[in-house]
Amino acid sequence: MPEPVLVAQNLCKTFISRGRRVTALDDVSLTIAPGETLGLVGASGSGKSTLARVLLRLLPADAGTVRLLGEDWLKLRGRALRARRRSIQMVFQDPLAAFNPRATIGGVLADPLRIHGLADRAARPARVGALLERVGLPASYAVRGVHEVSGGERQRVAIARALAARPSLIVFDEPVSALDQSIRGQILKLIADLQKSEGLSYVFIAHDLAVVRLVSHQVAIMESGRIVETGPTPQIIANPRSQTGRALVAAVPHLHRRNAP
Ligand SMILES: Nc1ncnc2c1ncn2[C@@H]1O[C@H](COP(=O)(O)OP(=O)(O)OP(=O)(O)O)[C@@H](O)[C@H]1O
Ligand SMILES: [Mg+2]
Repeated sequence: MPEPVLVAQNLCKTFISRGRRVTALDDVSLTIAPGETLGLVGASGSGKSTLARVLLRLLPADAGTVRLLGEDWLKLRGRALRARRRSIQMVFQDPLAAFNPRATIGGVLADPLRIHGLADRAARPARVGALLERVGLPASYAVRGVHEVSGGERQRVAIARALAARPSLIVFDEPVSALDQSIRGQILKLIADLQKSEGLSYVFIAHDLAVVRLVSHQVAIMESGRIVETGPTPQIIANPRSQTGRALVAAVPHLHRRNAP
């Protein structure tokens, strides 16, 4: 078996909010294989985004380890941390919230090239144009403001910005939930196509299995900060073992009937 891109073990995270303890992550372990997608499904508040933020090091874990590309990721500091940061990128649900409203699309895409030293100033415009074309937008969009495009186009820009860093792993936190039904399919197809052409690994977060099953090789089901069930997507769909897993399968139309006895 090829070495996993990421291995998380025993991650824990507790928040104290207004005097109340909330266990957002309770001993979470997971593995992501190269070129594969782990779909992370669970109800609101089950800890999906907290897990994403801990994996990105946007939030410190209370306990646990993460190996990223063979390195002890949560322990990296200084230069080693800066060098490794580009390997794991995130795409958020709300394409507007992720951007400075006054930024141009070209500026948004040039930032990671500059920050990670991936292209000098002279080379950046061409790289920005190529990134836009890779996500199905015209290179001429570089001069537009981030507000001057549709929600679906903004999500394409967010994906291009993640790609700019040349990551090994992208964490998508409900990337199509805020989009019109009509363009969800296009964005999902883009995400799937990029995985194949770039050999990327993904974590794909959603509330239900309807979308996750279409894009995920493996599924992990979260409940109250724990992963209660995990396995290959067809196995979870055909034979969910946890109560939450059975409820999630039953909630997708046309899915559960096939599995009826
Ligand atoms: N910064 C914070 N301070 C206090 N509590 C928090 C914080 N962030 C998250 N939580 C709590 O941790 C738990 C997990 O939240 P999280 O956002 O990870 O859930 P989620 O599965 O992403 O939910 P959703 O599907 O609604 O996005 C929730 O009870 C939430 O209220
Ligand atoms: Mg969330």
